[in-house]
Amino acid sequence: MKLLALNGSPRKKWNTATLLEQAMKGAESEGAETEQINLYNLNYKGCVSCFACKLKGSKSFAKCAAKDDLTPVLEKMRNVDAIILGSPIFFGSITSQMKSLFERFIFPYKSYDLKNYYPNKIPIGFIYTMNIGEDVLAGSAVEAHIKLNELYLNFLSGYGESLIVTDTYQFEDYSKVDMTYFDPEKKKKRREEHFPIDCENAFNMGKRFAHIVKDKSLLAQ
Ligand SMILES: Cc1cc2nc3c(=O)[nH]c(=O)nc-3n(C[C@H](O)[C@H](O)[C@H](O)COP(=O)(O)O)c2cc1C
Repeated sequence: MKLLALNGSPRKKWNTATLLEQAMKGAESEGAETEQINLYNLNYKGCVSCFACKLKGSKSFAKCAAKDDLTPVLEKMRNVDAIILGSPIFFGSITSQMKSLFERFIFPYKSYDLKNYYPNKIPIGFIYTMNIGEDVLAGSAVEAHIKLNELYLNFLSGYGESLIVTDTYQFEDYSKVDMTYFDPEKKKKRREEHFPIDCENAFNMGKRFAHIVKDKSLLAQ
């Protein structure tokens, strides 16, 4: 069983990357092979509306015809047993690299008639990290954005799951940053007390995904 983790944060060792690593460890604890790719190491664009993926009878039908650093990643996303995406929230949505991947991954498989050409039924998870707390998230545009992404992933693979990590610790040293909106002490406390729980939830997501891959009947639950 192979699980692919895709980090959509430009930071390779911070919240999102740490949570993805925990998810990978969870999957590995059940014998899975894992791989993490940092999307910000790659050079690619989002969908360019060429519609090659929609051309009836063409070689590129239901495939992204654009060729760049994302091409082998999309190929892997077609062949692995489970995927976990991770992205911080930037200005209310996933980061630009993750958004570009989302377009290139989903659009070729989803027809205008809502036919689904993704060949697999696999678990796909999405770990979101953000500065705002649960109170601000509730009922917000960010929450709606997350629900919409979950709908797309569910449509495609039959199993989309979100792990939402709020009120993250953003800077090594808050005293150096021009910002008074967040209380550094509260952030530190949250980091110490709650982030370990977030990491455990990520670990359990990876572990659960490995179980689902072993027993596909769990996909229906
Ligand atoms: C350009 C930029 C925009 C951001 N916009 C938001 C936002 O709209 N809402 C929010 O809650 N956090 C926002 N954040 C904070 C990040 O989502 C948060 O710190 C996240 O945990 C960072 O992930 P990382 O530690 O993996 O890099 C923003 C951060 C940056 C750099």
